[in-house]
Amino acid sequence: MPVIALVGNKGGAGKTTLCINLASGLLRRGSTILLDTDPQRSSLQWRDISDASDLVAVVDAVDDVKAAVSQYQNRCEWMVIDCPPSVHSEQTRQALSCSDIALIPVLPSPLDLWASIHVERTLDWARSVNPGIKALLVVNQLEPRTRLSRLMHDALAEIALPVATTAIVRRVAYRNAMLHGCSVLDRGAEARSAAEEIKNLTDEVVKQL
Ligand SMILES: Nc1ncnc2c1ncn2[C@@H]1O[C@H](COP(=O)(O)OP(=O)(O)O)[C@@H](O)[C@H]1O
Ligand SMILES: [Mg+2]
Repeated sequence: MPVIALVGNKGGAGKTTLCINLASGLLRRGSTILLDTDPQRSSLQWRDISDASDLVAVVDAVDDVKAAVSQYQNRCEWMVIDCPPSVHSEQTRQALSCSDIALIPVLPSPLDLWASIHVERTLDWARSVNPGIKALLVVNQLEPRTRLSRLMHDALAEIALPVATTAIVRRVAYRNAMLHGCSVLDRGAEARSAAEEIKNLTDEVVKQL
């Protein structure tokens, strides 16, 4: 069962947003469990506001990530882990020690890029305990016509981690889906462009596994 961790060293980069939408994309391929390991429990809150029965199952794994991974690994085909906003947290370290791939959302801003340097170091550590782990930076909240977003491409080249071909654009559809306790894949025409990029990202991640 492939395990995908959403990690990063800053709040607000989009870990929870990508986690929820990616898990919803994977659910269309097979049974999927989302482990919420962030003490803020945002993924659990998202699941709580929905009464749909066909949504991704979200499990509270804040206290012991490794135990939750072993407990649920034979019960699903895909597992996605939402991590706290620090690569030094126990939850992130445990998640990295048992994941097949780490996805690192980064915003097109210098502060966020600098924060990903810490992620690079943490991944070096993760490889010492989990040699097979892969990593992929995912640009999130891209504003395609801005100079900053164009500069982002040059800046990303300085980081020694591969970057996903699919960038996630800043769209109100992501916030609306969160508010409604669903994913952008469940929002019909209103979220068509967002759904398209989430499907592309899901395909890209699955190809790495
Ligand atoms: N692509 C996007 N477009 C618009 N808003 C987004 C996007 N990604 C995230 N957001 C919003 O940005 C905020 C932070 O995202 P969140 O997923 O909670 O980050 P994290 O889990 O890394 O702290 C939330 O309000 C979320 O709705
Ligand atoms: Mg979060």
